[in-house]
Amino acid sequence: MLEPLFGVLALFPTADDLLKAIPEVKKRGFTKLEAYTPYPVHGIDEALDLPKSKLGVLVFLMASLGAISMFLFEWWTSTVSYPLLTAGKAYNGWPAWVPPMLEGTILVGTFTAALGMLFVFNRLPFFGNPMLRSKAIDRITREKFALVIRPGAGGLDTGGAIAALKAAGGEDIEVVQAPRYSKAGLAWWSKAIGAVGAACVVAGYGTAWVIRTFPTTRPMVEMEDQPRLDAQAADTFFASGRGMQLPPDGTVPRTFMPILAAGPGDGGKALMNPLPVTDSVLERGRTQFDIHCAVCHDRLGTGKAWLDSTYKAQPTDLQSSTVRDASDGYLYWVISRGFASMPAYAADISPDDRWAIIRYVRALQRSQDAPMRDVK
Ligand code: HEC
Repeated sequence: MLEPLFGVLALFPTADDLLKAIPEVKKRGFTKLEAYTPYPVHGIDEALDLPKSKLGVLVFLMASLGAISMFLFEWWTSTVSYPLLTAGKAYNGWPAWVPPMLEGTILVGTFTAALGMLFVFNRLPFFGNPMLRSKAIDRITREKFALVIRPGAGGLDTGGAIAALKAAGGEDIEVVQAPRYSKAGLAWWSKAIGAVGAACVVAGYGTAWVIRTFPTTRPMVEMEDQPRLDAQAADTFFASGRGMQLPPDGTVPRTFMPILAAGPGDGGKALMNPLPVTDSVLERGRTQFDIHCAVCHDRLGTGKAWLDSTYKAQPTDLQSSTVRDASDGYLYWVISRGFASMPAYAADISPDDRWAIIRYVRALQRSQDAPMRDVK
């Protein structure tokens, strides 16, 4: 039996030749045209009168849906399902939902663009396009530009089509047949993947079911069954009705530094320098002092800033008797909290390094103030 006709094909050497041929062929009354090119060709959609792709509309709709569903999801979790007060903000603090909404938009948008293009508009998976069986397909994928005249409602005048293509400059004209494909069953490998997937699901749920149904196999039942309060659960024992209690008044966190909470007069004095006076501590102190303090206080601590004249403040002379007499704790407070126009260094210098700097400042002070007996 003769196979039905797919169309008459001609090859063109360049994209320009193809674009020029399209109106020629149309002039001869053939309007059902298709082009096959090795790469996207500008202007081909217009030349073939292809309608504008609806992919953009689909992506817009789905991306909006992504944003809206993310908004609703955030709204539902933060106001209905699990309202949790965060830093005193309102439950429906929508600005915080914007990043997830953005992600929802992009996720659904990109998936729609890729999958919609492949499966909705190009109807994949379909490996039976008759063009794939044409002699020309190898060259089309590499270097040639093909124009195919498809049969219209009233069939196709093959002779006329060949003549029209020839007149338009087409070469290697070929009549392509369209074999009828029976809908093939699933390939063996897709069945295998499906079977393994199904087996995993069954095994997973099965195990969970066995563990729940036969308590002997439950690990650490004692812990699970003990009388206890779940986090965030309501409770009748305490007057507050909360399961989780607030810490008692005056509780001190383990990382609490009283000095940073107190003013310059108090906290500082209570703190002792925890570091021993060793070479490595002094070395560490020198490095950190030279990095952080020397620009303003000078490497000897004399307070002669190296900064240019735009820096108006007058850094304190660390050799002065005020600083000499100040306690280590006080200096620690100054470094951590800053002092007048001197910035705070708590965020830049670790506590140990701050203490090391103070050890080094003490050494600097001694170096400029040696008693007479040291030289005699
Ligand atoms: C940006 C410049 C600058 C840097 C860097 C700087 N300081 Fe200062 N520091 C100052 C100025 C300015 C003052 C004087 C503030 C005032 O009295 O107005 C000062 C004052 C001090 C004082 C005296 C506080 C008092 O009670 O009078 C000490 C001690 C001190 N700095 C130590 C340090 C140490 C240690 C470092 C390094 C971690 C450091 N500074 C880094 C600018 C700086």
